[in-house]
Amino acid sequence: MNVLVVGGAGYIGSHCVRQLEVAGHTPIVLDNLVKGHKESIPEGVAFHQADLADSSAVVKILKDEAIDIVMHFAAFIEVAESMQDPLKHYENNVAKTISLLQSMREAGVNKFVFSSSCTVLGEEAKPPFTEDMPLRPISAYGQTKADVEVILDYCTKAYGMSAAIFRYFNASGAAEGGVIGEDHDPETHLIPIAIQVALGQREKMLVFGDDYPTPDGTCLRDYVHVDDLSRAHIAAFPQLEETGKLLTYNLGTGTPASVLEIIKAVEEVSGKPIPYDLAPRRAGDVPSAYADSAKAKSDLDWTPKYDTIRSIVESAWAWHQSHPNGYDKA
Ligand code: UFG
Repeated sequence: MNVLVVGGAGYIGSHCVRQLEVAGHTPIVLDNLVKGHKESIPEGVAFHQADLADSSAVVKILKDEAIDIVMHFAAFIEVAESMQDPLKHYENNVAKTISLLQSMREAGVNKFVFSSSCTVLGEEAKPPFTEDMPLRPISAYGQTKADVEVILDYCTKAYGMSAAIFRYFNASGAAEGGVIGEDHDPETHLIPIAIQVALGQREKMLVFGDDYPTPDGTCLRDYVHVDDLSRAHIAAFPQLEETGKLLTYNLGTGTPASVLEIIKAVEEVSGKPIPYDLAPRRAGDVPSAYADSAKAKSDLDWTPKYDTIRSIVESAWAWHQSHPNGYDKA
């Protein structure tokens, strides 16, 4: 299949590009490089630098490259930023996604894979999260993902398009061999921040809240490897052959880890101490979020290969150790 990977130079998109190649598909990358890194795109993969809302460029690429499926990873992801500047998130994550869907209709492409997030469920949901729980996000970011999920429900019914929605838990880790990995600016995610401390790039880190109703008082999250996420997306392709289909899957390992457990895993893998200070709770954080991925397991025959925190942290460590400053000064 010819697969247009929108946001294919970003963290999850770039890993998906490589997994598409492994699975024998032809990835074509569309990225405006606002957040993405050109260096992450493998040699020989077609790359178009354009915005997903540049409809004349997108329609032309969809036609010229004979695209069968569009995978959409191009989103702003910072929950805190979405609360300070919600319109920025709505414009990028909702308005531009509508433009992309319109371009697909114009070009006659009707298979779509969408990156959603467990943040569409909000704080009332009790983990483990199943796909049928009501959408009640508590952040503008989560709401943008929920909005697109609803839009896709209408579009699959009205236009005969088919779509697979994947709700990620905490995407983490890096490709085997540390060739590509996570490089956000600014970095806000737990594992890379702990690794920055291990590398001596930060003196210490903050733990946001130790008074949550969890075993050690810190938040529980479901860390799932980016390559495992990518494999699930590709496994859904056969199901998209049926028009009008809307599929929704949670992707997580189902085994939660606390903030302190992650810090301990980074200490073990790196062999360095990770000093930290306790800080107040971070706005928008839910105490506990982990997946029931039984549906992806049964429908897509999907099982995470990276099924321990240690294996995920080891893969992240390999990337950060070989690229201490990310892509820029590798
Ligand atoms: N944390 C710290 N200190 C830090 C960074 C994070 O204590 O310096 C804590 C957070 O408070 C949270 C946990 O580590 O309890 C995980 O935080 P991350 O920022 O790594 O991840 P989030 O769970 O907040 O969010 C991530 C993505 C979202 C996505 C979500 C799904 O950023 O886009 O996972 O769970 F929706």
